[in-house]
Amino acid sequence: MKFFIDTANLDQIKEANDLGILDGVTTNPSLMAKEGIKGIDAVMQHYKTICELVDGDISAEVVSTDFATMIEEGKKFAAIHKNIVVKVPMIKDGIKALKWFTDNGIRTNCTLVFSAGQAILAAKAGATYVSPFIGRIDDSGWDGIELIHQIRQIYSVQGFNTEILAASIRYPNHIIKCAEAGADVCTCPLSSILGLLKHPLTDIGLAQFLEDAKKFA
Ligand code: G3P
Repeated sequence: MKFFIDTANLDQIKEANDLGILDGVTTNPSLMAKEGIKGIDAVMQHYKTICELVDGDISAEVVSTDFATMIEEGKKFAAIHKNIVVKVPMIKDGIKALKWFTDNGIRTNCTLVFSAGQAILAAKAGATYVSPFIGRIDDSGWDGIELIHQIRQIYSVQGFNTEILAASIRYPNHIIKCAEAGADVCTCPLSSILGLLKHPLTDIGLAQFLEDAKKFA
C-alpha cells in the first residue's frame, strides 16, 4: 500500500518525506486555503514546490464544476510537472472530464466518493485513482472501511485498474484497516502516519535496553 500525505503544509510534507516512506501528496481547496495560498499564480507555484519536494504523485484539485473549465484547469495543472494528478469531483461533468483526461493521457483522482456506485463510474471513466472519504462516512454514521472492502471486491471481480485511494483518514487504525481491506493507497494527515509508530511497550522496552546498555558501556 502506498502512503500519501493529505496536506498542503510544506513543513509537514518535508517531515513525512524525510521518513523515506512517502509515495505522494494529496491536497484539496480547503487544505490550500488553510495555508493562506491566494490567487492562481500562488496555487500553481505551490503545486510546483510540492512536486520539487516529493518524487511521487501529487494531486491538484480543480475548483470548477463545468466540463470545459475543468479541462482548462486540469491541462494547466498537468503542465506543471509530470507527477501531477488532476483531482476531479464526482459529479456529472466530472465523469466527462475524467474520460477526457484519460483519453488525453492525463492522470486523474476522482474525489468526494461516498458510494460503490460512484466508484464504478470513476473506474468506467478511467480514473487513475478513486478517493472514498472514510472519515466523513464514519462521521455520518456509516462504515467507511466497509466501503473500501466493497470497492476492492468490485474492482477485483470486474478487473478495473483504478487504484483505491482511501482519503479522509482520521487516525492510525484507519490506515491499518485500509491496508487489511486492500486499499492501494492511504492519504493521511502526518499525525496518523506518526501515530503508527507509537506503542507503550516499545517505549518501555527501549528505556530498559538503554539502561542495560550502560552496564557494558
Ligand atoms: O483530501 C480529501 C480528504 O482527505 C479530506 O479529509 O479530513 O477533510 O474529511 P477530511
